[in-house]
Amino acid sequence: MEPAVAVRRYLDNAATSWPKPPEVFAAWNHAACEVGATAGRGLYREAVAADRIRDRARAAAGRLLGGVDPARVALSNGCTLALNTAIQGLVRPGDHVIATAADHNATLRPLHRLAAGGAIEWTVVPCDARGQVDPVAVAAAWRPATRLVVCSQVSNVTGVAQDVAAISTLAHERGGLLLLDAAQSLGVVPGDVAAWGCDVLAAPAHKWLLGVGTTALLWARPELEFEPLVAGGTGTVSESLGMPEAFVPRHESGSPDVPALAALAAAADWHEARGIAATAAGCRALADDCAGRLAEIGGVRVLGGPRAAAIVSFTVEGYDPAEVAVILEAAAGVQVRSGFHCAALIHEHLGTSSGGTVRAAFGPFNSAADVEALVQTVATIAGG
Ligand SMILES: Cc1ncc(COP(=O)(O)O)c(C=O)c1O
Repeated sequence: MEPAVAVRRYLDNAATSWPKPPEVFAAWNHAACEVGATAGRGLYREAVAADRIRDRARAAAGRLLGGVDPARVALSNGCTLALNTAIQGLVRPGDHVIATAADHNATLRPLHRLAAGGAIEWTVVPCDARGQVDPVAVAAAWRPATRLVVCSQVSNVTGVAQDVAAISTLAHERGGLLLLDAAQSLGVVPGDVAAWGCDVLAAPAHKWLLGVGTTALLWARPELEFEPLVAGGTGTVSESLGMPEAFVPRHESGSPDVPALAALAAAADWHEARGIAATAAGCRALADDCAGRLAEIGGVRVLGGPRAAAIVSFTVEGYDPAEVAVILEAAAGVQVRSGFHCAALIHEHLGTSSGGTVRAAFGPFNSAADVEALVQTVATIAGG
């Protein structure tokens, strides 16, 4: 259905943030239109400028993770790619892996595939009706062969955060590793891999970090090395058929997306000038207001809470979430996501297996008017 209203109220920031700060678009534009060269491959002026952009992006990524050594942050060509790299690189045949029901298919599907092929065994620990996992359940699932825990730090369906410090502590006590999927948390909570205690982390630039494109961060703690998933040109030791030893080139095969790297560096500056906690609190205030008001409408069920990310998932009795999403755009220009949100296992626990949820995710450029438009339209739909 073509939207009947011209206004665009974008509330799908958990899928990808939009709009971006003007500085981010400007940095992207400069790198694309004026630098126009790739990084790590040339010695001419623009190639050196591209190298500097990549260095700036890597330094920014190190700061965003809580002041880690940038030499441990690979700028991957995708969060899903980075998560697959970590999973394939860390597990060995015969290992047992623990994942959570609140995780995203970016980790659940690679694990399912490894298990279906007989390479590993895995256990999915349940979450509660808000999408939260009890660390005790992780402990209960532990086996002698458990090597890895995979956990999404913040649910992309409910915005609820896991107690990753407790999970990493118990994993380490038992000699295991924690792979943290920070796709919905980096840019929402100030990055602090030391406090989280994860061993490996992946996060995309294009969601709450406000970057563009598919560039993602793949971090591993010092001395934790694993095979890259992809082998190819790195611009270094090109005379050798073997992959470089150092973490960064080892996990950065192929040409980097230089404009996206410029955008990431600019987005980090934007966040640092404002403070990630303050920006996220502003987004959360809109989400909490929206959730509270939706919950007062008869026939509307709001999932989750308290939320770390500004995500509000809800259902409207008698309507498929997809129908609600289409009406929201047609009637009020409100753009949300509906369905299962690439999270195969959480819905059984939320009680939303029949069609998933409607998901609104508020970014720093949303306003109270967007909440108003959504709430009013849902009230009309539910009133029927
Ligand atoms: C929790 C979570 N993990 C991983 C991903 C994958 O990110 P990408 O699609 O940028 O590779 C997403 C994207 O929606 C996500 O929400």
